[in-house]
Amino acid sequence: MAKQYWIVTYGCQMNVHESEKIAGILRARGYEQGAREEDADIIVFNTCCIRENAENHAYGNIGALKKLKKSRPGLLIAVGGCMTQQEGAAQKLRKKFPFVDIVFGTHNLEDLGALLDRKEGSKKAVVDVWGKEGEIREEDFSFRSSYPNGWVNIMYGCNNFCTYCIVPYVRGRERSRDPEHVIAEVNGLLDRGYKEITLLGQNVNSYGNDRGGEFTFPQLLHKICERDGKYRIRFMTSNPKDFGEELVRAIAEHEQICNLVHLPVQAGSDRVLRLMNRKYTASEYLKKVELLRKFVPDCQVTSDIMVGFPTETEEDFQATLALVKEAKFCTAFTFVYSPRSGTKAAEMEGQISEEVKKERIMRLVELVNTQTREQSVLYRGKTIEILCEDYDAKKGLYLGRDEYGRMGYFKSDRDRIGEFVKMRVSETSGVSLAGEAFE
Ligand code: SAH
Ligand code: SF4
Ligand code: F3S
Repeated sequence: MAKQYWIVTYGCQMNVHESEKIAGILRARGYEQGAREEDADIIVFNTCCIRENAENHAYGNIGALKKLKKSRPGLLIAVGGCMTQQEGAAQKLRKKFPFVDIVFGTHNLEDLGALLDRKEGSKKAVVDVWGKEGEIREEDFSFRSSYPNGWVNIMYGCNNFCTYCIVPYVRGRERSRDPEHVIAEVNGLLDRGYKEITLLGQNVNSYGNDRGGEFTFPQLLHKICERDGKYRIRFMTSNPKDFGEELVRAIAEHEQICNLVHLPVQAGSDRVLRLMNRKYTASEYLKKVELLRKFVPDCQVTSDIMVGFPTETEEDFQATLALVKEAKFCTAFTFVYSPRSGTKAAEMEGQISEEVKKERIMRLVELVNTQTREQSVLYRGKTIEILCEDYDAKKGLYLGRDEYGRMGYFKSDRDRIGEFVKMRVSETSGVSLAGEAFE
């Protein structure tokens, strides 16, 4: 029987896709996806450190493997991802969990195969975390597990240094992939029957800047959309500071580009936005949303919002609530600010107490949920088109998303995964919709 792997993923979409790359590397070495963690021959943790609780989760789950490792010394445990890239993290991991066999970082993920070779026959742990970015590997060696959705990196790293954020420290500077390779990868996926492609980067709007700026993100979108046929294009994330008319026009022009933009605002107070180094004001942000809706009237906007940034007052927080209403987000990811060692904000005076943060996040979540519900109700009786992506065995229903990212559930007596399905909405709950599919 083939050796089995088990991958545990934390963090963003970027990491989800990188776990597909890790799976590709392991499969090339003869491993197969296992059915249970307990039976795996190798367990890989692909970690995140964006907030403290993401790290705590990973630490807890790695620690929980001590017993399993003792009972099965042949089991390999590898830890990679953003967490290991932090200063001193690899040493801390080794000290806390001496039973971990391999520690690698975000810059040498592609070399996991070579690290496995190094580990073979050696009792010592292999720890290899690079401080510097490696060369971009253009070929697609991932083993994808998200059909009919395909994730495609268009760039790596981030140059923005928002003062709360650890990403630039653990992912390095912006590096854009060669447009030809990106387009070939997208076309390759569509040829294989993938129906929805999500282009990934920390700030897709600065795509190409590091390659001389000759080939911009909107140009990349135009090129990709030259292909005929029915498919969807999404992208994330678009930093509002660089979001502009050229991109808005591309969204308006191409039917394939979903009329949903994720535009993280973070806060509604200009003073806080300045301290965050976001490089836009609340009114500039709202103008961009307005521009988007002018060109693409049905466009929906989602966002990331944070509460409890150092020095945030009740008045600042009220400005955030006001902005959520004004921007009419259909939904938003809401976060409690978490100080990250090495970032500017972690050193700022005026850190907010846990109690105040908790109270603010509750009010924010309530507002966002109310807004989502109010907008969902408008879907009742309407016909939407969803791309069926999975089957929920517990509910006995197929599910998929509409262009605007809402999850639709429906019954079917045949497999519909990978099909565009028209569905009449009869019930709504939060961002989920349920209804009957047309055959
Ligand atoms: N590149 C994207 C964001 C990637 S991180 C952008 O600039 O929009 C995803 C989200 O995590 C951020 O938008 C932010 O809301 C949140 N986040 C980042 N650092 C955080 C921190 N230290 N504490 C709490 N939330 C944080
Ligand atoms: Fe972090 Fe800002 Fe870069 Fe986004 S743009 S990854 S929030 S530093
Ligand atoms: Fe993503 Fe977390 Fe790294 S959000 S880029 S996996 S720190």
